[in-house]
Amino acid sequence: MGLVSVKEMLEKARDGKYAVGQFNINNLEWTKSILQTAEEQRSPVILGVSEGAGKYMTGFKTVAAMVKAMLEDLKITVPVALHLDHGTYEGCYKCIEAGFSSIMFDGSHFPIEENIAKTKELVKVCNEKGLSLEAEVGSIGGEEDGVVGMGECANPEECKKIADLGVTILAAGIGNIHGKYPANWPGLRFDVLEQIKKKVGNMPLVLHGGTGIPTDMIKKAISLGVAKINVNTECQLVFQAATRKYIEEGKDLVGKGFDPRKLLAPGAQAIKDIVKEKMEIFGSVGKA
Ligand code: 13P
Repeated sequence: MGLVSVKEMLEKARDGKYAVGQFNINNLEWTKSILQTAEEQRSPVILGVSEGAGKYMTGFKTVAAMVKAMLEDLKITVPVALHLDHGTYEGCYKCIEAGFSSIMFDGSHFPIEENIAKTKELVKVCNEKGLSLEAEVGSIGGEEDGVVGMGECANPEECKKIADLGVTILAAGIGNIHGKYPANWPGLRFDVLEQIKKKVGNMPLVLHGGTGIPTDMIKKAISLGVAKINVNTECQLVFQAATRKYIEEGKDLVGKGFDPRKLLAPGAQAIKDIVKEKMEIFGSVGKA
């Protein structure tokens, strides 16, 4: 199966009261681990690519070509979307051209009128090409790829205005932040999520900053309309810990332990393990 938009998989998730994970990719190992896990777990999956990660992998065209080829070579049969994460207006067009199947335009830092105008234009382009579009209201806190957000709560009225433009899914700040949560984090604002849900009706909602949100909060968010949950930092942390362990145990110094296929194997396995765990928590296992 080739790449698909997120529309059908997330409408099914919303109706079935589970969420599909968006796992951000950084390189071939990341992509392979996530795709293999999705196939093993019979789960739909969304591969997220930030603009910084796209640049790191030499460009969006390389990313799209790699992912499409990998779907074939790994004989992936579950639904897979390739999604731009927190795209700029220009970045959205680059990914559309490169062959992504889904786009996020993050206009949350613009005044709402400008966010509306740019989102509206992208709705038209994405509709013409059969791509899904995620919009954002209320910036997500924390730091991701140099983009620093203050972590606001979205204004439900503004959410409705953006949802009414015909976007596929909506990310709304509800106290969530990217990266690790500080010890004094007060938790998700379910009151705000409920107000947003009332305003936007049936639209599947997106929860960013999935790393470190306790399972009970994840489940409650899903029960209130969240159908897509983004995870990035947690895969990086488990990869780092497993790689550190391999080197600290001196395994890179034994035999051909320096071979990158051996050196990176524990990290790749750690990503598989955490992605499986997240899919189980999100309830997407067996839903492909
Ligand atoms: P984390 O890095 O906190 O998991 O957030 C990921 C994310 O929201 C990507 O958009």
